[in-house]
Amino acid sequence: IRCQSTSTKEPKAKRNLLDNLSNLLTNVLSGGSLGSMPVAEGAVSDLFGRPLFFSLYDWFLEHGSVYKLAFGPKAFVVVSDPIVVKHILRENAFSFDKGVLADILEPIMGKGLIPADLDTWKQRRRVIAPGFHALYLEAMVKVFTDCSGRTAEKFEKLLDGERSRGGDAIELDLEAEFSSLALDIIGLGVFNYDFGSVTKESPVIQAVYGTLFEAEHRSTFYIPYWKIPLARWVVPRQRKFHYDLKIINDCLDGLIRNAKDSRQEADVEKLQQRDYLNIKDASVLRFLVDMRGADVDDRQLRDDLMTMLIAGHETTAAVLTWAVFLLAQNPSKIRKAQAEVDSVLGQERPTFESIKKLEYIRLIVVESLRLYPQPPLLIRRALEEVVLPGGYKGDKDGYTIPAGTDIFISVYNLHRSPYFWDQPHDFVPERFQVQKESEGIEGWAGFDPSRSPGALYPNEIISDFAFLPFGGGPRKCVGDQFALMESTVALAMLLQKFDVELRGSPESVELVTGATIHTKNGLWCKLKRRSNGH
Ligand code: HEM
Repeated sequence: IRCQSTSTKEPKAKRNLLDNLSNLLTNVLSGGSLGSMPVAEGAVSDLFGRPLFFSLYDWFLEHGSVYKLAFGPKAFVVVSDPIVVKHILRENAFSFDKGVLADILEPIMGKGLIPADLDTWKQRRRVIAPGFHALYLEAMVKVFTDCSGRTAEKFEKLLDGERSRGGDAIELDLEAEFSSLALDIIGLGVFNYDFGSVTKESPVIQAVYGTLFEAEHRSTFYIPYWKIPLARWVVPRQRKFHYDLKIINDCLDGLIRNAKDSRQEADVEKLQQRDYLNIKDASVLRFLVDMRGADVDDRQLRDDLMTMLIAGHETTAAVLTWAVFLLAQNPSKIRKAQAEVDSVLGQERPTFESIKKLEYIRLIVVESLRLYPQPPLLIRRALEEVVLPGGYKGDKDGYTIPAGTDIFISVYNLHRSPYFWDQPHDFVPERFQVQKESEGIEGWAGFDPSRSPGALYPNEIISDFAFLPFGGGPRKCVGDQFALMESTVALAMLLQKFDVELRGSPESVELVTGATIHTKNGLWCKLKRRSNGH
């Protein structure tokens, strides 16, 4: 499935052919086992003109929150309702696996948590999730501020250069800058390796980008040609992919060896009593090896690290990219955010404590995740027959889906559902401060913070699965708090020092999707020092 934004119009004859093909497939498949479920009559050509999730949204408004989409030789059930999503992700989590997604990611992540089969997942989740404990997160704030500080210094140097030429602004692709920043942070946080990508290039960095590029390509390519025997030797991009993988794997193997060589026996409690804020290596790898290093084979550890590297890098970079994109169109919200940063931080760097006071910045981060969820779709495949419940709107009786059914959970649709959000497409971080029942929606309890006491950021529990930027249920993201704090720190430190504007019009920023939503040609911005002298 190629779902790339392009302004090129399909020639009419080709559109008609694609439409006819699509209708034929839709008709053939609509008589299948999903009974009375509405079928999206969309044309295949819809898929080529813009990202897939836009079309899924239109069909959601037309067909309701559970419908069948047929394209190519495959059919997917598209779900955009919180009750049904909760049923799939939480109440019946183990009746589903990752289906198509696992097929795509397994060659890259092996038996890492995201594509892992249920048995492996159960074992590894139990070991990995405690690695993200509160003291670890507190220690990570220093990594976030150090790395964001490096990025700010880089921008300041560029601005100094510009000033010597008489200018006061620089033009930068902030998406690329955020990508480097997020790579440095994930490397240090997960395996205590400094990619240093904000300031330099290296074969390992190139290999990480090459691998991400391939993951992206695979998630948007319809035929898994890489599974064809000999493809890895014959197809040049597959040869390059395996070369890149080897570079990263060698690097990870070296880090694992080092961590194992310096391993100390400890139990969780002792590890948690460590002075995390002062130890040299607070990384997840150190924790995993110290806890269970002897039990886990190197291959499994490598898969775990690779998974976290990929899962935690582009997602966070994308949040920062869209937060700036949205802010740049709302100068009054930039000023409000800067006023908060000035009053909470002044000239200081954020700390674990001050993140708690940066409420508006935190809400900008979550509102950006609402409008641009990463990834916009979650993918599941039913392992057995499942009876889905009825949803909030229409579809009151629910449907029975047979084993093998592929499902797209459209987080994008949920997050922009006109049934749950006022002005669903508008950037209003303040909406999360309004803790009131949403009006006019039967059965919708709205946001209820008492469901998740002490949560620093709105989540799927508080919203009863209407807002799920990190998924939900047992396979929810393990790095959610890491990513949220990282984004809060990076954004606060950017706004503390700089004013930012888009270089062109917002419409000129085209979207492309694969695993995440990103721009086609970068997020080109103008950056200036803050006029108040910060
Ligand atoms: C899973 C989003 C950052 C590691 C997930 C899932 C989502 C998600 C939606 C659930 C996928 C599904 O149910 O199919 C995000 C976003 C991030 C982010 C939006 C940044 C803003 C991170 C970071 C890490 C990480 C920083 C690691 C340090 C993982 C892992 C899983 C996962 C290991 C699989 C969990 C499991 O299956 O048990 N993430 N993530 N993510 N994420 Fe994240």
